[in-house]
Amino acid sequence: MALIEQFGEMLGRALENVSSSHTPADLDAVNVKYLGRRGELAELMKKLPSLPAEERPDAGMRANDVKRQIQAALENRALSFGGDKPKAKSALDVTWPGAKIPRGHLHPITQFMRKVEDIFVSMGFEVVDGPEVDTEKNNFDLLNIPKDHPSRDIMDTFYLTNGAVLRTHTSPVQLRAMETRKPPVRLVYPGRTFRHEATDASHETTFYQYECLVIDQGITVANLLDALNSFFKTLFGPQVKIRVVSSYFPFVEPGLEVSMSCLICEGKGCSVCKKTGWLEMLGSGMVHPRVLTNMGIDPEKYSGYAFGGGLDRLVMLYYGIDDIRLLYGGDLRFLEQF
Ligand code: PHE
Repeated sequence: MALIEQFGEMLGRALENVSSSHTPADLDAVNVKYLGRRGELAELMKKLPSLPAEERPDAGMRANDVKRQIQAALENRALSFGGDKPKAKSALDVTWPGAKIPRGHLHPITQFMRKVEDIFVSMGFEVVDGPEVDTEKNNFDLLNIPKDHPSRDIMDTFYLTNGAVLRTHTSPVQLRAMETRKPPVRLVYPGRTFRHEATDASHETTFYQYECLVIDQGITVANLLDALNSFFKTLFGPQVKIRVVSSYFPFVEPGLEVSMSCLICEGKGCSVCKKTGWLEMLGSGMVHPRVLTNMGIDPEKYSGYAFGGGLDRLVMLYYGIDDIRLLYGGDLRFLEQF
């Protein structure tokens, strides 16, 4: 019989001897007979060096395996007697702490998105969602951006071959959400947006925006300013000031550009705010009557405000990140800091 088969034959006998043992003393005898210093296993192992070199590793592994199986059988049988573990030391110590399983965490943008949602939810807003691929109609037409309007060029758009677009802003969610809702509404919708831009420290082709839409009777710019103040003060602290200057977006009238006092220099002027003391945060305004009409809402009866800005910019200011590309590079040395 080949040596490797002799191990198997011995294992068979050893297991039979274990199961026909009825006292700890029987088990000790089995232990000595097979695993003792002059036991059968030791005798067989002495023959290993006589094997051809290429057969030795397999035979060696078989020997170890047979040894483990006999030890396990002895232990189990001893436990079934209700006695202590046999003296032979087990290879398995179930009291040893387990290997730590590495856990990941949410991306800083996702964490921040939830923070922003929480703040708006605490102000009575409903979180809604919309698709990243949308129609030209929702992304432009219904937002009062006609085909030949120059702002279509500013938002260098990715078109799909079927004519759909990767949304260039979160504003199309206004139309989507109002398909199934009636005023009064207070909505917030953060999400991913796309523009065909050259990338640099503050531009990426893929980025995130958050946007709010409030429609009710008697909504005015005062309500808009109040919401903006609450949001920025909750996020960045009560010392933050808001500045509003007039601006233009086709889907609002009037349009307002909103800045926040610089967090770094507190308005004195530094390199982050380009010596102005102010950081541009978002676009906003009163929803254009034509957009309300496109939503099936009577602009004589209802009014509303909308504002939207870059979520990445918030994350970067909050953590002091100076290059947007770090957020999308997937480098764990960066991501593990959050
Ligand atoms: N959608 C605009 C942009 O991406 C921001 C905006 C939202 C402006 C809502 C006004 C109202 O630039």
